[in-house]
Amino acid sequence: MRLDKMISSTGVASRSQISSAVRSGRVTVDGVVARKADMQVDPDAVRVVYCGTPVCYRKFTYIMLNKPEGYVSATEDGKSPTVIELLPEELQKIGLFPCGRLDKNTLGLMLLTNDGDTSHRLLAPKSHVAKTYAFRVKFPLSEADVAALESGVDIGGYITAPCTVVFDGEREGRITLTEGKYHQIKLMMEAVHNQITYLERVSFGPLTLDPALDRGQWRYLDGREIALLQKK
Ligand code: URA
Repeated sequence: MRLDKMISSTGVASRSQISSAVRSGRVTVDGVVARKADMQVDPDAVRVVYCGTPVCYRKFTYIMLNKPEGYVSATEDGKSPTVIELLPEELQKIGLFPCGRLDKNTLGLMLLTNDGDTSHRLLAPKSHVAKTYAFRVKFPLSEADVAALESGVDIGGYITAPCTVVFDGEREGRITLTEGKYHQIKLMMEAVHNQITYLERVSFGPLTLDPALDRGQWRYLDGREIALLQKK
């Protein structure tokens, strides 16, 4: 694999930044200053240091994004901006896609990756990966509403699986689902004659939304988070 491709696949820099770093002698390969950005390297065996930082090559990229309102969970959309457009240009070209969907007006934790197998496994119904959402509703929720939501409600002919609802006040709380039907939480609240006014995903399987990320910001998952995802 080309040296510049290996470094850029980790997202630390664009190919042109890497070329310029190589030209000014700021990239080493196995301790020796690299002379050409297009030199061939074995990404699994080589030790590359880019501008003083060791490059940890991974075949796939995993990103946590704090999704803002108004972005669609897709790689392309004719009308609205996509979550991919929140990433820098060099990361828009490495085949990342959203692992699962959030509605355009839903906020919070979104995983972006180009690892199709892991994504597929996390989203498979039989994996029952838990997702927790903070919500607000228009009208107070009664104990009976919560009991109904927790045991399963009819959303257009489908009875939802058991879930957990924790109250944080009579119009807000957290709901944890282990399945993911289209508009599920909105439809569940409609089934108990209520209406979602705010929805934010705060956790996805072993990942929790990083409070250091403002809306629209992203970061790479660290090695521990990736290992946890792959165990799921
Ligand atoms: N349920 C919804 O209704 N919308 C989402 O975006 C996620 C879960």
